[in-house]
Amino acid sequence: MGERVRTIDRSTIHDLMERERGTFRERHRRSGELAEAAKASLLYGVPMNWMVRWPGDWPVFVDRAEGARFTDVDGNTYVDLCLGDTGGMAGHAPKAAVDAIAEQAAKGITLMLPTEDAAWVGAEMTRRFGLPFWQFCLTATDANRFVIRWARELTGRPKIVVHNWNYHGSVDETFARLDADGMVRAREGLVGPPVPLDVTTKVVEINDLTGLEAALETGDVACALFEPALTNIGIVLPDPGYHERVRELCSKYGTLLMIDETHTICAGPGGCTQAWGLQPDIVTIGKTLGAGIPSAAYGMSDDVANRIVAHTDFQHIDVGGTGGTLAGNALSFAAMRATLGKVLTDDAFEQMIVLGERFERGVTDVIASRDLPWHATRLGCRVEYLFRPDAAHDGAEAAAGQDEELDPLMHLYLLNRGILITPFHNMALMSPATTAEDVDRHTEVFAQAVDELVGG
Ligand SMILES: Cc1ncc(COP(=O)(O)O)c(C=O)c1O
Repeated sequence: MGERVRTIDRSTIHDLMERERGTFRERHRRSGELAEAAKASLLYGVPMNWMVRWPGDWPVFVDRAEGARFTDVDGNTYVDLCLGDTGGMAGHAPKAAVDAIAEQAAKGITLMLPTEDAAWVGAEMTRRFGLPFWQFCLTATDANRFVIRWARELTGRPKIVVHNWNYHGSVDETFARLDADGMVRAREGLVGPPVPLDVTTKVVEINDLTGLEAALETGDVACALFEPALTNIGIVLPDPGYHERVRELCSKYGTLLMIDETHTICAGPGGCTQAWGLQPDIVTIGKTLGAGIPSAAYGMSDDVANRIVAHTDFQHIDVGGTGGTLAGNALSFAAMRATLGKVLTDDAFEQMIVLGERFERGVTDVIASRDLPWHATRLGCRVEYLFRPDAAHDGAEAAAGQDEELDPLMHLYLLNRGILITPFHNMALMSPATTAEDVDRHTEVFAQAVDELVGG
């Protein structure tokens, strides 16, 4: 059956894609008009360049969103499993956060002065991630940029090491991947790198401890910036014992271990750091902390905090390359306090993870019953399906499992039936507002898509 799928797939995919594009055009006329009008003032016709990646002939314009659902300007409703690619993981417009945001907005949005909420949020981050000291910024990209800078400053070393097929935001040093000869190259599409990537960056596969030791033993690596599991090329989980050994190697060679929990907070309230008992020197996180109000953070160990303070030039702290005028603003803190305190709570995660399991089961059953050479992988309340038989063991394997024709067809097929997953790979995320019915609706439509693809 697997062979049959592969041989008939391509023409079936093309035919289905044409049909689905027609359906999309018919059901999204108002979005089409707005998209056409937007071309007069917006580069590419969208406010942010990634939005050209959505399936369909133009982006769907949103009217309103609440909980795990949204309605577009044509009146179509959707179960949102993309959730703003994690920015909306708290669910859309969660009441507790909306109330706190409205209240704070009426009292002042940004002053470059702290409010009472700041220390509450800092203490909550410590409870979740175990690191004693925190700083705040607006995006996970910012957080990663700032901690890389500090790592170079503290260690006096020039390079960083990242996983192959990582994504950590628009951070110059991280856009590197390994080519077929194991050499460091810029990622495809990288715009205007300041220096060739191999000047700043080493790249190792997740789960390649020999490669990691070889990268570190030369003594020129300031920090390892890793997601605990890859989440931006499908999900690639670490081998048992991988992180313990990563910690040992970083300590042995004096490299700071930085764990980016921006997506992997899906593993639980304190991300993989809490769930798996990781011992990073630094944690970074953004996206979901403030229910979508720009909010991000980096936390550090006592040792790192002491070293940073010792290296701080207080007279020039405002031009040292970390921080920002809007960072740590009052509105973000009100949003984070309400989101962490009342929305993305420990109890909410329990329920979200149960739904993640249900989603994984549903997809896995469909794949198995149709004898397809595909699989689903889950990390907490985040699930991905990938068009290869087994879970990928590293980034290169996961990259080879992407399908440039099948991915967009699946995205569009689901969208036309009221389900949104990410426009990059095939990710579904559960929010506190997601229901079992939402999950089952996806399973049903996924099965329908598969049956059309295999002619079942
Ligand atoms: C793991 C990880 N870190 C950082 C980022 C950057 O987030 P932002 O674009 O909000 O700065 C992303 C974005 O997808 C991410 O997946």
